[in-house]
Amino acid sequence: MKKYLIALIIGILLVPAAFYLYLLSGHAPVAASASPLPFERFFARLAMRATIARELPKAEAGPPTESELVSGAQAYRQYCGVCHGFPNEQPTVISKGMYPHPPQFFHARPVDAYNPTCPFRPADRKVYWKIKNGVRLTGMPGFGGSFSEQQLWQVSQFLGNARNLPPDAVAALEGKTEKPPHSTAVPKSRQRPALRHK
Ligand code: HEC
Repeated sequence: MKKYLIALIIGILLVPAAFYLYLLSGHAPVAASASPLPFERFFARLAMRATIARELPKAEAGPPTESELVSGAQAYRQYCGVCHGFPNEQPTVISKGMYPHPPQFFHARPVDAYNPTCPFRPADRKVYWKIKNGVRLTGMPGFGGSFSEQQLWQVSQFLGNARNLPPDAVAALEGKTEKPPHSTAVPKSRQRPALRHK
């Protein structure tokens, strides 16, 4: 009995010891360009799914209006496109150098033709969660500390309707609007004081 117990304890200790040695070996991926650790993706996905399921917002913003999509497009242009891409543009140098690569929401293609008879879709609450909280160790920032609730929903709504954007939202996405992106400006209280030069 005692023998089995010792064998069991050694067996249990062997796994973390082997993992420790693997990390020490210098072969573990730490560069942004390396492939993931064994089981990294599996555990990360498992944890992410469970956490989002637990923290999903109860309330939901309904289908957006056109002006909400325009505001969402402005925020996307300013804060997201550098990583997630724009229509007709190749992935940026920044996004190509990241691991994991940020998903490209427009795949460098022209935007899909607008179909005004197709109603706008409500935002996906999981997408809202990711934008608000970010994704640890991936480079996806959390915007909950900077955006208002309304802005978080608007940009989520924008992504949910990226396949059917009205012309005004496309213009905002491409930076062709006259309107300043007032609704996405960082509030004064959060702006950093200008650097002082001696
Ligand atoms: C510095 C780069 C960077 C910026 C800026 C950025 N993201 Fe991301 N984003 C990422 C990366 C990397 C991932 C992939 C995370 C992962 O692998 O789970 C991601 C994932 C996402 C996802 C999840 C996609 C999916 O299929 O699950 C959404 C939604 C998203 N980002 C939206 C946004 C929005 C909206 C903004 C701007 C308000 C933004 N991101 C800004 C890098 C970025």
